[in-house]
Amino acid sequence: MSMALDGKVALVVGGSSGIGRGAALALAAAGARVVVAARREPECREVVGEIEARGGAAVFARVDVTVPAEVEALVATVVERWGRLDCAVNSAGINEDVVPITEADDAVFDRMMAVNCKGTFLCMKHELRQMVRQGGGGSVVNLSSIMGHVAAPTGSIYVATKHAIEGLTKSAALSYAKQGIRVNAVAPTVVAGTPLIDSTMKNYPGLIDPYIADIPAGRPARVDEVARVIVWLCSDDASFVNGHSLAVDGGQLSK
Ligand SMILES: NC(=O)c1ccc[n+]([C@@H]2O[C@H](COP(=O)([O-])OP(=O)(O)OC[C@H]3O[C@@H](n4cnc5c(N)ncnc54)[C@H](OP(=O)(O)O)[C@@H]3O)[C@@H](O)[C@H]2O)c1
Repeated sequence: MSMALDGKVALVVGGSSGIGRGAALALAAAGARVVVAARREPECREVVGEIEARGGAAVFARVDVTVPAEVEALVATVVERWGRLDCAVNSAGINEDVVPITEADDAVFDRMMAVNCKGTFLCMKHELRQMVRQGGGGSVVNLSSIMGHVAAPTGSIYVATKHAIEGLTKSAALSYAKQGIRVNAVAPTVVAGTPLIDSTMKNYPGLIDPYIADIPAGRPARVDEVARVIVWLCSDDASFVNGHSLAVDGGQLSK
């Protein structure tokens, strides 16, 4: 039986845990060969092992998205290993100071901009260069958030980084549409059980509860629900979807 991503090569940056991990598993299940990239090698290797145990193909590549040379080398590694890059998922992200702007720390601003915003920029730059170079189109999916569409009184830095990712996504979508390369984002609401959301809930008790209560579906998203949307955006089923930020929010942004 042929699958949606048969023969494709996919890179998942931030594949060691959470949504990136789920995306790597789902992309492999859809037939792609997957490069699982992040800083934590044991976690990435576990994802690789899980994919292989299910009959898929995957390799680990280490990257710190704040280091431009490492991001460039990562894409070169993908091409060395499998000859091309068809799908790229940029899921590396952090959320540290969930406070109003007057209480936000300057160093945290720099760190979050470096990972969420510049990291996504660097990944897109080198992924898109490769997709243009090889020809034949491609698909890039960035991890935004509903916080890339709207704001919250706390978390001004996170909101700013996610709005920046929305801008990068739309602009790049326009730049490479003629080459058949699509650049989209997914914008999840709270996704349960990832290290990012677990640490936010631990560090700021009670802060996330009102956001979950506000979700019309009455619950947070699951990782697999976001991962399936990422697979769809990577596939030819989404062949005319470009520059879009797809909310995976149980209806929250419709309120
Ligand atoms: N969970 C949610 O509620 C939610 C909602 C909307 C959007 N998102 C977004 O979804 C994305 C994934 O988050 P998650 O919830 O799945 O949390 P997560 O499991 O903590 O994922 C974050 C990923 O980013 C990687 N990362 C962090 N800093 C990095 C760096 N300098 N270089 C390379 N990789 C780095 C981490 O890997 P290493 O530590 O191994 O490097 C990890 O794989 C983020 O962009 C987040 O903003 C999450």
